[in-house]
Order: sequence, then structure tokens, then C-alpha cells
Amino acid sequence: MFSSFLKFLGNIVLTPISIIVTLGRMLVPMRDTLCHFPGHHGVIGNWRSLFDMLRWNTLDFLLQLKEKYGTENRSPIAFRFLGRPAVFISDPEHIYQVFNDREHFSLSSPEFLLSGFRRELPDNLITVSEHEWLPMRIRTNYMLNGLPLKRIVKLMGETMEQRTLPEWREYARKGESFDIGKSIFVYSSIVACRFILGVSQDEIPDTIHDQLSRMFNHVRKRTLSPIVIPSWIPTSSNRSYVRDTTDINNYILQYLDRAKTTHTLAGSIIRARTQRNYDLTENQWDQMTTYIQRSIDLPTATSDEINCILRQKYEKIKQEGEDKLSQIHYVVTELRKAVTNQYKLKESVGEDEVECELGNILCQGGKIDVTRSVNEIRSMLIGASETTILLMQWILIHISENLEIQDKIYESIKDEKSEVPTYDPMRHKYLYGVLREGLRLGPPAFVFIRYAMKDVYLNKGEFFIPKDTTVVGSQYITQRLKDVWENETKFDPDRWNKPAQRGSFFPFTGGPRMCPGQNFAINEAFIAMATLFKHFKFRREDNRKVGYDVGLTLRPDTSIRIVLEPREREFLPKI
Ligand code: HEM
Repeated sequence: MFSSFLKFLGNIVLTPISIIVTLGRMLVPMRDTLCHFPGHHGVIGNWRSLFDMLRWNTLDFLLQLKEKYGTENRSPIAFRFLGRPAVFISDPEHIYQVFNDREHFSLSSPEFLLSGFRRELPDNLITVSEHEWLPMRIRTNYMLNGLPLKRIVKLMGETMEQRTLPEWREYARKGESFDIGKSIFVYSSIVACRFILGVSQDEIPDTIHDQLSRMFNHVRKRTLSPIVIPSWIPTSSNRSYVRDTTDINNYILQYLDRAKTTHTLAGSIIRARTQRNYDLTENQWDQMTTYIQRSIDLPTATSDEINCILRQKYEKIKQEGEDKLSQIHYVVTELRKAVTNQYKLKESVGEDEVECELGNILCQGGKIDVTRSVNEIRSMLIGASETTILLMQWILIHISENLEIQDKIYESIKDEKSEVPTYDPMRHKYLYGVLREGLRLGPPAFVFIRYAMKDVYLNKGEFFIPKDTTVVGSQYITQRLKDVWENETKFDPDRWNKPAQRGSFFPFTGGPRMCPGQNFAINEAFIAMATLFKHFKFRREDNRKVGYDVGLTLRPDTSIRIVLEPREREFLPKI
């Protein structure tokens, strides 16, 4: 506590100093040598923009920058970002280059921006150090795609059918308006709890939804705040923050033991965070051999042969060094592949199940790093809902007055047999176009930040960017460029009948850091939107213009209350 107190005192003294230094730096014009391209500027000329920057309204700041200094040919604009040299890019080709040129551009945001995130979301993929990132990324990707995603989609469908659709029917029956954001938050957080922790619907208390929603708000506020009051000082917001964190941690802890042996995301996190003994016991070898024999159809292989293949492979991994040996996902995948490659046979159970079972055997007797496991699970629970819910809300805002689009969605989905349609890329092109238009005009993540690791030229030598320059781009701005998108502000799902120009659409960014949850998000939003439009017409309760609440994500600045009207066929008598 004493060290936190010292840190707090330090903050009080240092924050005003750093603000003054930052202001000073921002007001010092950038030297001509910094960026040798047309349209470069040292200072953003008015106080409003400075204010926007300080209160982190990054979107208004970038819009002003673009309006004031943007040129016809979308040249990069140089400026100072928190006193550091920065460049704003909007041209799709430049954006494509930044995402894909691994030699010159960083994978993550600059270190000075990550510290706030790290404090609030420790042990998360976004905040871990570069050397920890890749193995963590591989195992997270794995759990959010392929076979695990199929299971998640099933959970989404069940949750929609058992919980959300009946709730919507009830609102429609009563003709009552309701907050659609809240309703889909509940849908999404039930899905998150079920797939991350492997709990059943009955094991999800209603209180968890508000706790998760408040936690995201705490993180949003605290990450962007220049001064953070240490959580042990009992301000009302701190008390709520501590209470919510403790409640969510306790909820996770309640299921940690059970989750650790399951093929859930929590299970894979816990296994990866277990300190194992790398020398395996005879019993562990026997168990692995028996499991492989039972789960993979290997009629010609004896236990001795399988045991031998596993041991040989394990020795090889050991020789690769502790870095590889410590990555359980890597070890298990290599062991499994060694056996299947040898016999050129297909597995009779899913890869993910084999990964879980072998992983459990390897982890036997190991010590779980409970704190880091809970941190990672908590941050996934908090992060898995916000963006997808925003996407759905922006779609509804954009089409609330467009009955033609609502009807077209209905036409494209009405013949689906199931009450809750799931996404099929071949059949659902129109609704997929709707989702992409939602992501284009209301991108939940509206800005990305990288830095140049070396001196580099953009566009084959036209624009020079010196090493260490912060590179900022915005989904919101490029996805609305007039000369890239015809009728750029029109919500037009049909524009997706042809592919977009490369680098012009990147709601999930691009390159190796691209969001690993994008298929998850598309499926979740698809199920909710398809179910809504299959069964109901909707209108907003009021037609107040919706603005932006700009923070970590781009939120509507008001809650979206809607009224549902059942589609006619629901009134027809059932035969
Ligand atoms: C519409 C919904 C979503 C949008 C627009 C979105 C967008 C993004 C963006 C822009 C990033 C940053 C990528 C970068 O730094 O270049 C990101 C990262 C990430 N997203 Fe999503 N996301 C969505 C949904 C989800 C969901 C549902 C999950 C999980 C269930 C998820 C998990 C993650 C993770 C773990 C990262 C960190 C990746 C890394 O640093 O390697 N996202 N997302």
C-alpha cells in the first residue's frame, strides 16, 4: 500500500509536469527534416484540437487534421502525438503497407501508449510483451476459430433461442419499447461466459451482465484518464471498480478448477499458465499412449510403437529449448502430428479435444498461475462483447428509417427453416453485406496505432517516414473516403456485390495482429440480426439524431430503444 501511495504522489506531481511538457512539445513546430513529403505540418492550429487530443477524442482530432491539412491525393499528414513525431495515413495503399510490411512497421502500438492498457488489462493479448505475444496469439486464434468456433456458434444459437428471442417476443407482444443494446449485451455475455468458462446458462447469474458492462466502462475510463486515483482510495468510482473486479474474479475462481481440464478458452489459458515438470513420469507416457490409441484409429500400431514415437518427438522438442517446451499448445500439437503423420491417418476426434486431453496429462501435478490465469480470463470476458454489440447497434441506427433494407433482409432470410438462422457464406450474402456496411460506417474500433521500427518510404519512395514515428490510421476515416466509396455515407449493403479496394476496409485491422475474434463476431452478430429480422420489423422509439461517444471504442452517445412488431406470418395459424 505504501508503494501505491508513493506512486500516487508521484502521479500528482508528474502528471501536471508531463501535461506541460506535452503541451510545449505540441506547440513546437516540427522540424522540416522530419517528414519529407508535401502537406506536412508541425502543429494542429487551434485549441479545440489540442483539447480533443487531451481528452482523448481521437476521432474529432483526426477529422480536424484531415479537414485542415488533408490533400486531394491523401498524402500522409505529419503532426505531433502527445509531443512525439507522428504521421496520420488515410490512403488505402499506405494502410495496406503498414499492416503487411513486417520489416518496417511494428506489430503493436508504441510502448508509451500500452502502459494504461497494461494496468487495466494485465496478461491480455493486446498488452503482453512481444516475446509472449506469438504463442499466446496462436492458442487464442485456435480457440476462436475452426472446430471450437463451430461449438461456439451452437452456443450462440441456443442462447438466442432460449433466452433472447422469447424476451423479444414478449416485448413485441406487449408493444413495449426496450434498450436493444442491453438486450444484446445479455445475449453476448451469456455466450462469452459459456464458451470461455464452459458454464451452463443456469450457472450465469443475472448480475454478471451489469458487472461485465460496468467493468468495460471502468477500463474505458481508466485507460484513457491522464490521472488515475489508486484503487485503494475509496472514491465511489474506485469502490465500484474494486467490487466489480472482485466479483468477476470470484465468479471465475468458482469455476477455475472445473474449467482447467475442459476444452474451453479458460481451459486452454490455464493449461498454458501451468508450471509443469518437463520430465514426464512413466504414468504420463502410459496415459498419453492409451489416449492416442483410443482416440485415433490406428489399427496397426502397438502401444510400444506409439509410446516410442511420442518419446522421440518430445526429446526433439526438448532440444529446441525451454522456449518451445514451455508452450503447451506447441508441444501437444507436435506430439499429435508426430503420430498422425507417421500413420497417415485421420483423427476420429477433433484436434481441439486431443489438444485438451494430452495437455491435461502433460499438466498433471503442475502448479497453476492462478492470478495470471484469472487476469487473462477476466479480460477476455470483458472484451468479448463490447465491439460486437456496438456493431449491431450501429446497424440498427443506420437502417431504422430504411424499411426497404429491413424488408430486403427479411426476404433474404425468411425461408430459413430454423427459428434462429446461422451464418452460411453461400446463402447469406445480403445480410453479410449489411454487417459489412455496419462495420464500414460505424467501426467499433475506429483507430489503430503503430510505429516505424526503421526509416521507411511509403508508396515506393514517395513519402519518407523516419524510424520511431508513430503511425496513426482510422477505420472511420478511410472507410468513408469520398473517392474510394461511391456515396460514401449511404448505408448500401449492395455495394458489397463487388470486392472493396485493398486497404480501404479494415474494421478488424490487418496483418498478423488482426482481430482473432472476427469470425466469432460476424457469427454472433449474424445470428442476432438474422433472428431479429426474420421475426420482427423494428422502429426506434424516438428519432433523435445519434452522435458518437468516443473512447476506446466508438459508441452511440445515447441508448437505442426500439419497438418490435412481429412479421405478419407469425400471426398465421400454425398447421
Ligand atoms: C465487431 C467486433 C469486433 C471488432 C470490430 C474487433 C476489432 C478488433 C481490432 C481493431 C483489434 C486490434 C487489432 C490490431 O491491434 O491491429 C482487435 C484485437 C483483438 N480482438 Fe477483436 N474485434 C471484435 C470482436 C472481437 C471478439 C468477439 C473477440 C473475442 C471473442 C475479440 C478478440 C480480440 C483479441 C484477443 C484481440 C487482440 C489481438 C492481438 O493483439 O493479437 N475481438 N479486435
